[in-house]
Amino acid sequence: MSNNKIAPSILAADYANFASELKRIEATGAEYVHIDIMDGQFVPNISFGADVVASMRKHSKLVFDCHLMVVDPERYVDAFAQAGADIMTIHVEATQHIHGALQKIKAAGMKAGVVINPGTPVQALIPVLNLVDQVLIMTVNPGFGGQAFIPECLEKVTQVAQIRDQKGYNFDIEVDGGVDNQTIKACYDAGANVFVAGSYLFKAQDLTAQVETLRVALND
Ligand code: DX5
Ligand code: ZN
Repeated sequence: MSNNKIAPSILAADYANFASELKRIEATGAEYVHIDIMDGQFVPNISFGADVVASMRKHSKLVFDCHLMVVDPERYVDAFAQAGADIMTIHVEATQHIHGALQKIKAAGMKAGVVINPGTPVQALIPVLNLVDQVLIMTVNPGFGGQAFIPECLEKVTQVAQIRDQKGYNFDIEVDGGVDNQTIKACYDAGANVFVAGSYLFKAQDLTAQVETLRVALND
């Protein structure tokens, strides 16, 4: 069985109808829902916070893959654990204490993810790779959906996969930004197995059929 996971990004959904959008995502058979949290400081955009995630939790049993684009994300670990987040992924660029923050996420009972921006090298991840369940390599600069995929980021996916295999770690590798049926296979070939897609999926009328185009592109 394939280890691939599709993570539709709810950032591209209808914010006035999260409950029905979650049902729509669930019906596609996607493994995760990707939930983007933005604070207007780490990134220019503002989305929503832990209280909204807690409300979503009442409407869905999907794996909540929460991507925090916020300054000092360690401040929100307990709030996201209580909200029902399954995975909490935080940026190395957003905290002085990435190691401690990831430990805190694990201690709170969530899976811990670490993420780097397109301008950040893999070296920044190395000291925490033994701690994490997921590494997210951004394939756009974070803040907005609908941006063009940056192919140069895939080299970092390959580097991280090599380090993982050499060291015997077993975290997932996720890509986020500009993923569609044209770019997903290159992400997979580089070593990614969790694929976030926002605008590509939600621009279609039939979300399930659109998710299927990603699986077809992966030969899944
Ligand atoms: C961007 C977010 C992404 C976004 C991806 O900062 O982290 O998760 O929803 O959107 P697309 O797939 O449209 O690039
Ligand atoms: Zn994201």
